[in-house]
Amino acid sequence: MKFSPLVDRVKGESVAAWTIHAEARDAKLRGEDVIVLSIGDPELPTLPPVLDRAVDTLRAGDIRYTPAAGRRGLREAIAEVHRRRTAQAVDADNVIFLSGAQNALFAASLCIAGAGDEVIALEPLYPSYPATIRASGAQLVRVPAPASGGFRPNLDLLEASITARTRALFFATPNNPSGVILNDSELAQIGALARRHSLWIVADEVYAGLAPEGRVPGLAALLPDQVVTIGSLSKSHSMPGFRAGWMVGPKALIEHAEALSLCMLYGLPGFIQEAALTALRGTNAPELRIRELCTARRDQLLQGLKGVKGIRCCAPEAGMFTLIDVRDTGLSGYDFMRGLFASERVSVLDGGVFGEETRGFVRLCFATDEATLREAMARIRRFLGTLTR
Ligand SMILES: Cc1ncc(COP(=O)(O)O)c(C=O)c1O
Repeated sequence: MKFSPLVDRVKGESVAAWTIHAEARDAKLRGEDVIVLSIGDPELPTLPPVLDRAVDTLRAGDIRYTPAAGRRGLREAIAEVHRRRTAQAVDADNVIFLSGAQNALFAASLCIAGAGDEVIALEPLYPSYPATIRASGAQLVRVPAPASGGFRPNLDLLEASITARTRALFFATPNNPSGVILNDSELAQIGALARRHSLWIVADEVYAGLAPEGRVPGLAALLPDQVVTIGSLSKSHSMPGFRAGWMVGPKALIEHAEALSLCMLYGLPGFIQEAALTALRGTNAPELRIRELCTARRDQLLQGLKGVKGIRCCAPEAGMFTLIDVRDTGLSGYDFMRGLFASERVSVLDGGVFGEETRGFVRLCFATDEATLREAMARIRRFLGTLTR
């Protein structure tokens, strides 16, 4: 039997890079002595009121179908958080609740691009972007950020990459994996290009809660008809398993996304929505908790690996990751990842999954406890000691 060409478009290209992570995760489940720093999931407990709300509403019988765009109260709460973060005047009709930022990115891609279109994504890019963008039928155009410039976007290259077919620009700020937060001057240039060429801007802000003050500069208030903001509770509230995310954008786009969600999902679980509402209406304690953890561990890592021969850690502006330049070891990011896991049972991720410029790097998630990070650094130093070059 035949399959649609879609199945090829959504196939991941970077499967090999994840094999070590999968091995490490399985070994950890078996109780083996491994340190998993290959994924961005700090394993902090969900806040008790959020968990209680999910369990209580479920027990109380919240098991019926729900509106495709999400419950009104939840959409209002998301709009309120978005207004606070961006100063964009939005209400519940500008919001759709979806199952995680990933689902929101997918819906945005399908609603704004199609066959014959080009969609630009700023590298380094989150590895699910290529399939997410190509699912729409559009062609992905990558704009690499040079490692030599600290992975800040190359805006000349961005401008040169725009053609008559370009429909949208995707980026994450703060970036995963580089931690770069787009600044006002970069955003002004991006905004001018978007305006001149009538481009959609899909701003993936899932790590915004981890940035200073819990927000990042953006273009949503300036270009409300063109900007789509993607958010979620996965990182800020350490709730990735709840699959609670959203898209904020022009009302017409939200209506199209609602039609898509109706045929793809037919609404999301009510008890998840009630838990998400409790999280959004609560204090900013969860964000502070993750921000403080990340700042402390980032400093510990940068200090602990400072001056270690063969590697160089990039200091992220925000987030839970650092890119480590391993080019001086003579190894690719892929071989470094494999070697480190084989000899020291520490899993990191090959930077090559994020684009060309990160090929000689590995990504390490430092959002773990102090002792684990200390032990991981000792193992990394020991591994480096075994390399002869
Ligand atoms: C940049 C970026 N966007 C989106 C996601 C997906 O987030 P969610 O769990 O809300 O689907 C992630 C998860 O790691 C991410 O790093």
